[in-house]
Amino acid sequence: MTSAQTPSSHTRFPAGGRAFPHRDLIAIGALATHEILYLLEEAEPWVAFNRQPAKHADALAGLTIINAFFENSTRTLLSFEIAGKRLGADVVNMHAAQSSVKKGETLIDTAKTLNAMRADALVIRHGSSGAVGLIADKVDCPVLNAGDGQHEHPTQALLDALALRHALRERGEASSDGMMVGRTVTICGDVLHSRVARSNVLCLQALGATVRVCAPPALMPLGIEAMGVEVFHHFDAALAGADVVMMLRLQNERMDGQFIPSPREYRHLYGLTSKRLALAAPDAIVMHPGPMNRGVEIDSDVADMPGRSIITSQVEMGVAIRMACLDVLTRKARRIPGWGAKDSAGEWV
Ligand code: CP
Repeated sequence: MTSAQTPSSHTRFPAGGRAFPHRDLIAIGALATHEILYLLEEAEPWVAFNRQPAKHADALAGLTIINAFFENSTRTLLSFEIAGKRLGADVVNMHAAQSSVKKGETLIDTAKTLNAMRADALVIRHGSSGAVGLIADKVDCPVLNAGDGQHEHPTQALLDALALRHALRERGEASSDGMMVGRTVTICGDVLHSRVARSNVLCLQALGATVRVCAPPALMPLGIEAMGVEVFHHFDAALAGADVVMMLRLQNERMDGQFIPSPREYRHLYGLTSKRLALAAPDAIVMHPGPMNRGVEIDSDVADMPGRSIITSQVEMGVAIRMACLDVLTRKARRIPGWGAKDSAGEWV
């Protein structure tokens, strides 16, 4: 694909209806399976586009995207910024630590302020579960959840699914739909505090996977069985025959008190070593959303293992999936046919 060949996938959706009927992207739990698959498909042209030397499209030219991050981030913030810029939008980042939040401005007043600046999309990360949904109720533009407390991190789950699909395709094993049917994914780590785990359980199950979660009892949410997962406290048992192993870091910033005896003991019981990985299926795929604590939940030789670890692919797919999400959610504002309708007064609704 050359720089002149920018994806124009919006010509592909059905006439007379929206393939993605949501204004916002707050939670995987709000999406039907075909909507997840739709976003994955929409990301594919952007994967190829991002591998070109020149990566500038104009699909979102003239639009303003505000990334408002109330918690630290490297991957999510940068990939949303890169995604918006590659699509031609004007992208502005608001870091809460340098904003009037520090002077006591409330979340709702901050949201109303950003809304009054006529942003065309807001990307928000916040430390409180439900905060992003609350903001979405107060503003007029699409809101994308970049992670809210222990609730959800939907674009992380989507990028993980896209990275898995690419890894399986490279092995000649993936079909487009139901790509995870018959496959077992073990998610191990601080499940209690992990929005990544929650979004991934929902997304992977929607794609047909059997999902196991593994954590020390203190780091496992009560009642998680209700999500239809298999619950383990012994990592070796959770790994047995797994096709995919997704490791999570200990989220010390969310811990109020002592949840593990020591990092050393945690590694001994729950760290992914090459010896432990051998308990999983031959060629099992290794994933981690980052940031990693090397030598705690995952050893470096496993994190960097050629042919097994897809951790850098997860980062690459993050840009493509965020381009797809921004593209899809701003189509109504861009008057793309099929993504809005005019009412009797001629206004787009
Ligand atoms: N995976 C993830 O959300 O990473 P960041 O916190 O760096 O954005």
